[in-house]
Amino acid sequence: MKFFIDTADLAQIREAQELGVLDGVTTNPSLMAKVGIKGAAAVEQHYIDICNIVTGDVSAEVISTDYEGIVREGEHLASLHPQIVVKVPMIKDGVRAIKYFTSKGIRTNCTLVFSAGQALLAAKAGATYVSPFIGRLDDVSTDGLVLIEEIRTIYDNYGYQTQILAASVRHPMHIINCAKIGADVATCPLSAITALLKHPLTDNGLAQFLADAQKFA
Ligand code: E4P
Repeated sequence: MKFFIDTADLAQIREAQELGVLDGVTTNPSLMAKVGIKGAAAVEQHYIDICNIVTGDVSAEVISTDYEGIVREGEHLASLHPQIVVKVPMIKDGVRAIKYFTSKGIRTNCTLVFSAGQALLAAKAGATYVSPFIGRLDDVSTDGLVLIEEIRTIYDNYGYQTQILAASVRHPMHIINCAKIGADVATCPLSAITALLKHPLTDNGLAQFLADAQKFA
């Protein structure tokens, strides 16, 4: 399973990249606003800065919601850097735009997906990635992991190449369960990735080994 980091924070992206397990980055307008990016030029430079830190795909989200606007904005974002994947919302004009981008060889990430039907449409339009938001489903008492299972079954039934990018991941058990189900990618906060490292028996065992090493130092 690929690991993407879900942030626009350059320090966190660098830290995840240095860990050596990072395969890409996802951003969204809220994450960009959170790091204080203002103005079109700054936004574009920020995407380029992210691409220069990581080696994998970097999702940059369009803000337009009409077909012509999504196409114009997406083509511009894709021209910024070869690692950019155009993130498009799951709306009618978004699906049309994904189909257009697919025909032009522009890679896409269909975002704000909350149902299997939406994921099926994204795959039929040729999206490179589909982003089911599992944490936000959990927030409304609906098991987000069930959606990942449904999409996995549907895509496997028909051999759709669209990669399932589990999004809105909140904690390490989301990552582990997505891996068990067979999600292609999990995009996670840095805290969820580093939480995978931790086990008290590892800490205790290391402390004991280091103490014993002093005996023959
Ligand atoms: C990533 O592509 C999504 O935009 C992101 O995972 C949403 O996460 P949130 O539900 O924590 O805002």
